[in-house]
Amino acid sequence: MKIYPLIRPLLFRLEPERAHRATLKALEIGHRLRLNGLLAPPSAPPCEIMGLRFSNRVGLAAGLDKNGDHIDALAALGFGFIEIGTTTPRPQPGNPPPRLFRLPQAEALINRMGFNNKGVDYLVSRVKEARTSAVIGINIGKNFDTPMEKALDDYRLCMRKVYPCAGYITINISSPNTPGLRELQHRVQLVSLIEPLKEQQQKLAAEHGRYVPFTVKIAPDLEREDLFTLAEILKEHEVDGVIATNTTLDHGQVKHLPHGGEAGGLSGAPLRQRSTRVVRQLAEALQGALPIIGTGGIMSGADAREKMAAGARLVQIYTGLVYRGPALIREVVASLQNNELR
Ligand SMILES: Cc1cc2nc3c(=O)[nH]c(=O)nc-3n(C[C@H](O)[C@H](O)[C@H](O)COP(=O)(O)O)c2cc1C
Repeated sequence: MKIYPLIRPLLFRLEPERAHRATLKALEIGHRLRLNGLLAPPSAPPCEIMGLRFSNRVGLAAGLDKNGDHIDALAALGFGFIEIGTTTPRPQPGNPPPRLFRLPQAEALINRMGFNNKGVDYLVSRVKEARTSAVIGINIGKNFDTPMEKALDDYRLCMRKVYPCAGYITINISSPNTPGLRELQHRVQLVSLIEPLKEQQQKLAAEHGRYVPFTVKIAPDLEREDLFTLAEILKEHEVDGVIATNTTLDHGQVKHLPHGGEAGGLSGAPLRQRSTRVVRQLAEALQGALPIIGTGGIMSGADAREKMAAGARLVQIYTGLVYRGPALIREVVASLQNNELR
């Protein structure tokens, strides 16, 4: 039974952030009534990636549950993993609203949320209460008002705080809504970020007796040459995984549409090919040295298979959920089950 197509027109009448809050509230109620599991896909063969066991290859992308307030309710929908955050050392309000826009003709969103979140201490307290067996990824970033030359301190602090309760940690250096953040993807800045974080990871592993892998999340707006440089650095420093991609700043495909000119990152269908191109080029450069998590414009099972064919080993979705609802999770899990498993 497909309920979401019936609810969607009502949700789309609400201002997007209000619809977001209403949906999450409904999910919480559904979870308490044990209804969410009815929407979940049948079990799939588990896989082991980055030393972690995933019950299926479909994850929730970062940004939907920034504070980890809804981990169990979301996991009950059948995700193999849930990435929460981006979280920052201190709470911050993000950009002034309106900052989230729907472009229904293009099945897309534009957002300039700006890491609105309650801070890393709050997020950790929420993760400690979560009961799910799904892998929990924690996506970390820097505060808006931390100067770029101090960015490493923010990532270090967040890594140290989330380490004991994370399945994996994502270093987000690709959100377009924090000025300067994407510059961390360039060679010199990237090495000066990754090297000390890798060092800290080794220390924390010894301290806690558990190795928590970390991934780097990259932008779709990198040229082939930049991607090859980035891949070399990730390999050399033994980063555990890479998430490709975040949202794009190229609004070329949607600029004629209402809201197409809003500032922020574009996600959903118009991002798909661009993200897949990045996954393919990364796969070529990495030669299997580390796993790629493919995200960007997955709106169907076929789109997810495209990411896997390009070289991804796991996928994540966000905007597809807004347009297709939880049925998309089931569809993607089913379609990947028929995919050649690696
Ligand atoms: C409203 C919104 C907020 C987002 N916030 C974050 C974030 O905080 N951190 C992050 O790494 N990515 C964030 N993203 C990017 C998504 O995680 C994902 O990489 C991107 O949207 C592409 O996937 P999609 O086309 O399936 O949405 C956000 C995306 C949207 C639409």
